This record gives sequence, structure tokens and C-alpha cells, in this order.
Amino acid sequence: MSKRLAVVTGGIGGLGTEICRHLARDGRRVIAVDLAAREDRVEAFLSDMASFDGAVSFAPVDVSDFDSCRTLVDRVQASHGDIDILVNAAGITRDASLRKMSPEQWHQLMRVNLDGMFNTCRQVVEGMTQRGFGRIVNLSSVNGQTGQFGQTNYSAAKAGVHGFTMALARETARKGVTVNTVSPGYCDTPMVAAVAPEVRAQIVADIPVGRLGSPADIARAVGFLAADDAGYITGANLPVNGGYFMSF
Ligand code: CAA
Repeated sequence: MSKRLAVVTGGIGGLGTEICRHLARDGRRVIAVDLAAREDRVEAFLSDMASFDGAVSFAPVDVSDFDSCRTLVDRVQASHGDIDILVNAAGITRDASLRKMSPEQWHQLMRVNLDGMFNTCRQVVEGMTQRGFGRIVNLSSVNGQTGQFGQTNYSAAKAGVHGFTMALARETARKGVTVNTVSPGYCDTPMVAAVAPEVRAQIVADIPVGRLGSPADIARAVGFLAADDAGYITGANLPVNGGYFMSF
């Protein structure tokens, strides 16, 4: 059997890069997909991944655009074969309290964080169920579980991610395809670095483990759910938040 093929959206982003690295270390072939416009970052990413001897590559996509996702999946299938693992890690913030939030801040975020997941899953789910194997991991957030001041858009989308996960998990459970959510807490990424320092300091003070998460903390959880022998875990949400929000 050839090595499993994984596609990671937001693949050159704060969490996505580490997810690609982790999957490659696990012996997967990995395609990081992201906006082509980030040319310098793509170059840095590819030189970073050179040690994997071509197992990690890059392909451009705009996840908010259905046709762009269709083209991507067609191209990947033609050049690399069937997609076994899909990780939806593309996400943006457009923080503002609701009374100041513009419709554009709302819609932009929904198009990437929620429509993006539909656009990619819609392209791969048929093939995965026909072949009887698939692993889909969707990235949500602790802020989808708790809500966050200034994030009605983000919290709504991230809560929606897990609703989507659960529904799709039911649709694919008998076909060897699992669908799960990983919900990161506050991690050491550019997205969190953009939060005002005093707000961030208060958040870190409230994390029981006492630090921001690392991208590797998240990648480990994604790798766990993407494994061949993780077939009995589906429709689950795996929180990785340093104890910031505990529930069961
Ligand atoms: N909690 C409680 N009260 C807050 C607040 C907060 N986080 N932020 C602002 N307020 C209060 C202010 O003290 C002020 O109160 P008064 O009117 O009594 O003086 C009032 O709300 C100001 O309201 P505004 O509508 O003017 O809000 P703002 O423009 O000052 O701030 C904001 C908006 C910048 C978005 C701010 O709320 C904020 O920084 N929120 C946190 C955003 C955040 O954590 N984002 C996470 C990004 S990373 C990520 O999302 C990754 C992940 O998955 C974890």
C-alpha cells in the first residue's frame, strides 16, 4: 500500500505547518494547501520541509471558494492519487465586539472558517466513502465552546465546526471514514500574538498548565485522530487547551 496522502488546509499557517510536519514524520505524504499569494511564506515552508525528501509539497487554494477547492482536489488526485486524510486548519479572526462588527467582518470569517470546511469536505467525502477509508479532522477552538468577548463571529463559526463534524461523522461512520474535531486553546501562533498584550496576559494567567499551547501540542492530537487505527473514534471533540476549559 502506498503511503497515506494527507491534505492540510491552512497548511503554511501557525498550526498548519506543524500539522504537516507531524503527519510527514508519521510517514504520510502531505500536501499543504493555502493561499498562493503568500509567496515568501510558501518558499520558507518548502525549505523547512526539505528534509522530508519531497513527501511534503504545496498547492494553492482559496478555501472560501468552492470551485477553487474542486480544482485543487482534481489536481491533487491527478498528480498524487486519492486523498486519505483531510485536515481543515484554515482559519482567520476578525475580532470586534458585536456592536462594532461590520457585515464584512462577519461574512469574511464565515466564508473561510465555515464555508471552507464545507468546500473541502464536499470534494473528498464521496471518494473516501467509496474506498472505505478516510480521516477528516476539523480544527475548532476553545472559544467555540466558551464564547469569547469580541468574537461572536469566530465563536459561532467554531461552534459550527463541531456541529458539522458530528453530522458528517454520522453520514460516513459505516464507510470507514471518521470525522473528528480538535479544539485548540490559546497557542503560540501569529493569530494569538495579534491579541492585545494585556488581554493575552490575562488569558495565559487563566490557563491551568500555565503557558500557551505549542503548535506541536495541537499537531499531536491531529496525528492521533488521523491514524489508521483510530477508526473507533468519530464525531468526537478533542480539546487541547492546557485545562483552560474543562468539561466532559
Ligand atoms: N472582556 C470583558 N470586557 C471587555 C473585554 C473583554 N475581553 N474587551 C473589552 N471589554 C470591555 C471594555 O473594558 C469596555 O468596557 P466599558 O465600556 O465598561 O469601558 C468595553 O468592553 C469596550 O467595548 P468595545 O466594544 O469598545 O470593545 P473593544 O473595541 O475595546 O475591544 C476586542 C474589542 C479588541 C475584540 C477585545 O474585546 C478583545 O481583545 N477581545 C479578546 C479577543 C480574543 O481573545 N481573540 C482571540 C484571538 S486568537 C484565537 O481566536 C485563537 C483561538 O482559537 C483561541
